Amino acid sequence: VNLFDSLGQKRILITGHTGFKGSWLSKYLEHVGAEVFGFSLPPEESSLYASIRGLDREHEHLGDINDFVEFRDFVKRVNPDLVIHMAAQSLVRKSYVEPIATYQTNVMGTINVMHASLESENIKGLIAITTDKVYENNEAGVPFREDDPKGGHDPYSGSKAAMEIAVDSWRYFYKQVSVGLVSARAGNVIGYGDRSKDRLLPDIIRSLKANKKIEIRNPASIRPWQHVLEPLTGYLIIASRLISQKELSKSYNLGPASQSHLSVMQVAKEANKAWGRDEEIWIQNSESPLPEAMNLMLDSDLAGIDLNWRSKLTAAEAVALTIEGELLAENTTADEVLNSQISRYLEAL
Ligand SMILES: NC(=O)c1ccc[n+]([C@@H]2O[C@H](COP(=O)([O-])OP(=O)(O)OC[C@H]3O[C@@H](n4cnc5c(N)ncnc54)[C@H](O)[C@@H]3O)[C@@H](O)[C@H]2O)c1
Repeated sequence: VNLFDSLGQKRILITGHTGFKGSWLSKYLEHVGAEVFGFSLPPEESSLYASIRGLDREHEHLGDINDFVEFRDFVKRVNPDLVIHMAAQSLVRKSYVEPIATYQTNVMGTINVMHASLESENIKGLIAITTDKVYENNEAGVPFREDDPKGGHDPYSGSKAAMEIAVDSWRYFYKQVSVGLVSARAGNVIGYGDRSKDRLLPDIIRSLKANKKIEIRNPASIRPWQHVLEPLTGYLIIASRLISQKELSKSYNLGPASQSHLSVMQVAKEANKAWGRDEEIWIQNSESPLPEAMNLMLDSDLAGIDLNWRSKLTAAEAVALTIEGELLAENTTADEVLNSQISRYLEAL
């Protein structure tokens, strides 16, 4: 059985489709046969979205989710069956510089999206994308489960934890009209085409391309690294099931297998190896001036039980696939890299 059969021909609205994960998700949904619509801010100049064939004008609206009326009008025009809400201020370090805008978009923007989506005549479900950073991190080194307390010591994490509380309360409105509502918490995703500042692998790739030594902060920090196609597959399994199974309206961790919780140093070493270099890795300084959690692990057993989802790639394979994409892109288009990596991943599912 095709995992995503029920998504064929469905109208799916992605918020944040011009972002890193949004670019991959729109291509993935094309492979699955869905009709994709997007609502986001315009793409950043050097972003992955700017280098692929994006959505046409019929399917895309460049706007701000903080504007309720603008978003609602797009929903009414598109009448999506499903909404996958990924638009966010997604960077921890930027959240220290722009805390108010971060909370505005991640909390009130989400409330706008949840409320307006109910105005679609076809709506069957909404998936709100949050993160591993929503958990109150006591640094105990025990993987978080879905019901663990929420919290966050930086504005990004705090805003996403607050978003979780808002999603939980909107379940009430959704339940009344039999529409599914899920929050999905992914790990630290990596993959070809992420050009964000202050994210580990993009920083490493910039150094490799410039033939410079790799600089890393907090080499001992452990994160749940995963290839972007892994949580996206989880989102699509949720989407296809949510159409008929409203009992899945809960929260799911979609993290990597426990052996993929690598340290920053191990990721840098894997990237160095995949690029074919054996030089030493240069550690910039071991403490970042802005606090970031040391240990963060997710327990994703519930997604295995309810959705039969589990991650397929080790962290080393995820790093290798990312580097492979960057090397391939030197001789082919970004669209081709995404399409070939998505096809291969789907064949192996
Ligand atoms: N990248 C990761 O490691 C990771 C991990 C866990 C969760 N997430 C979550 O996944 C989602 C996507 O992440 P990403 O890495 O693709 O981020 P990204 O920064 O590359 O993309 C963010 C997207 O949101 C849009 N956006 C931001 N503010 C907006 C606004 N006010 N109105 C409309 N659109 C707006 C941007 O235009 C862009 O399309 C986010 O919700 C993020 O918090 C990311």
